[in-house]
Amino acid sequence: MKFSYVNPTQIHFGQGQISTITTSIPKDKKVLVIYGGGSIKKNGVYDQVCDALKEHTWSEFSGVEANPTVETLDNAVVMAKEQDIDYILAVGGGSVIDGAKYVAAAAMYDGNGWDILIGKHIVTEAIPLGAILTLPATGSESNSGSVITQKSTQTKLPFMAAAVQPKFAVLDPDSMKTLPERQLVNGLVDAWVHVCEQYLTLPTGAMVQDGYAEVLLKNLRVLAEQYDDRDNNEWRSNLMWTANQALNGLIGSGVTHDWATHMIGHELTALYNVDHARSLSIIQPSLLRNQIEAKRAKLEQLGKNVFGLDASTDLAERTIVEIETFYHSVQVPTQLTEHGDDKASAVDTIIKQLEAHGMVALGESQAITLEVSRQILEDAVA
Ligand code: NZQ
Ligand code: ZN
Repeated sequence: MKFSYVNPTQIHFGQGQISTITTSIPKDKKVLVIYGGGSIKKNGVYDQVCDALKEHTWSEFSGVEANPTVETLDNAVVMAKEQDIDYILAVGGGSVIDGAKYVAAAAMYDGNGWDILIGKHIVTEAIPLGAILTLPATGSESNSGSVITQKSTQTKLPFMAAAVQPKFAVLDPDSMKTLPERQLVNGLVDAWVHVCEQYLTLPTGAMVQDGYAEVLLKNLRVLAEQYDDRDNNEWRSNLMWTANQALNGLIGSGVTHDWATHMIGHELTALYNVDHARSLSIIQPSLLRNQIEAKRAKLEQLGKNVFGLDASTDLAERTIVEIETFYHSVQVPTQLTEHGDDKASAVDTIIKQLEAHGMVALGESQAITLEVSRQILEDAVA
């Protein structure tokens, strides 16, 4: 184990905490409030933001779409530059927060913002930003990652930069009350896969990271089991905090990561507009079966410690079935159907995109070559 760890985002958790932004954002800042398609106007979050920012100077940019595009966000970059914005407040789910991170970084750069995604510009400075989370799933509210799509080329790429990590994040479970069922279960599944990407790799013997990862997975399993009771503050709070902890850097410190499911999943979203979480539930079971020997020890550990399965020679196989059952229990699919009828050409198209994006050696041991991705897709595409 060798790592440096800090999570500098201050969390304001609980009902009524949106009012804390009054003091979290310095009064002398020119603030740009960034949000999505308008859900925040229906659940009272926008009104609470207006109330809290009464004494601030602020303007707003709306219309950040799910799986945010550089085409839309570049309009906000122009706005931030023209108005000398020096603080950004993202109000929404992962897409809005990721989009705000891109704006924060691109506004401090004179070149084409897409350079950030292709690694041509390394982000070292950004407009400071804070986040009000309305959809627990991605962990974006307290991490340094962002995933942006270029619509014109159907390309979805991530970037990481300490400079775009939110200074603070407000997690008020009441803001989840208007979430459609689909987004709620997407959040459960995305958080689940985030833990898996940092845990289902090689045995590392890291007791803290493994143990905490298992607690988070157990929480998500229990929350899915208690899904009928979801209309209460305790259920919402537990999902919101679990999803946050799943990708805030802690369980990933000093251990091996995978992320192949995410990288292949991004192609499904870019090509066929599959929801992020569903792209993961489609890829992950096939990927786990394909990589079962490399991952056997951790799959067995997960089966025993999270699902309570008894030891057997096929414990890893049974664990994958349990993971699929978990997805199906919340009505999330494990096969791609959005491509239409032509499976062969869909697999070819996805492979071409993976190649174009340099995703040619994925997974904890870089064992997932294009040929292996093809095998995984043969199983995952209906
Ligand atoms: O646009 P609005 O009106 O806000 O509606 C959104 C959107 O349509 C709606 N929604 C959000 N909060 C709501 C609500 N509707 C009613 N009530 C509320 N309280 O939900 C829809 C989906 O929102 P979105 O932000 O797209 O969902 P999510 O949080 O799942 O974010 C997905 C994006 O995050 C990226 C994904 O790739 C995807 O682009 N990820 C970011 C990560 C990170 N930064 O660390 C890691 C993740 O693995 C993920 O890749
Ligand atoms: Zn994810």
